[in-house]
Amino acid sequence: MDNNVIIACDFKSKEDLFTFLEPFKGLNPYLKIGMELFYACGPDMVRELKKLGFKIFLDLKLCDIPNTVEKAMRSIAKLGVDITNVHASGGIKMMEAAKRGLEGTNTKLIAVTILTSLDDETLRNELDINKPVKDVVYDYASNAKKAGLDGIVCSPLEAGIAKELGLISVTPGIRLEGDQKGDQKRVTTPKDALNLGSTYIVVGRSITASPDPVKQYLRCVKEFSND
Ligand code: C5P
Repeated sequence: MDNNVIIACDFKSKEDLFTFLEPFKGLNPYLKIGMELFYACGPDMVRELKKLGFKIFLDLKLCDIPNTVEKAMRSIAKLGVDITNVHASGGIKMMEAAKRGLEGTNTKLIAVTILTSLDDETLRNELDINKPVKDVVYDYASNAKKAGLDGIVCSPLEAGIAKELGLISVTPGIRLEGDQKGDQKRVTTPKDALNLGSTYIVVGRSITASPDPVKQYLRCVKEFSND
């Protein structure tokens, strides 16, 4: 099923992932593999998922000196994933290095702007950033564009910024009506994300923690489509 809903597969083991995927047979959802699974199962699992035909967003959020990030990206380049990412806070030179590391592949590179678990107050009180989230997202997104990246990770509330800059937006912080927010602060529904201009939505617990994940997934797909 071709759509732009990405399931955040935050599981502790490959067994848990494959058990979760069992009822999705035939739907072939786009999967986000993040740190929890990657650190537990490594690149072989990613290769296996690619062989099975899944589209993969490898969400490892790299942030280090440019040389280290370029070399790490060279390793990621061999996995053939569809999207991967860095933190925009690593700076333009680091983002350019990450892009060089992916040269010769079709992997899209996007930059995390401000995590959807942070808000204006945390920026001010803990990170010493005295600007509203929206302004910081705009600055970081502009840097990502300067570095030649394909897009950004941001809240749907900031998806318009990506659009304005001609970038794709991959937006977590999605909750279906009636769901718990958990640790996320800036959340919207899939329908609102669509109306705000998100290119892709990333949905984790609203699907994975539900007693009927396929039903929740299909709700997201329906809400996040114009039909
Ligand atoms: O369960 P939930 O829908 O909140 O999961 C969101 C997913 O998106 C998590 O895997 C989290 O790591 C990721 N993410 C995020 N905010 C960002 C970037 C990634 O929540 N800015």
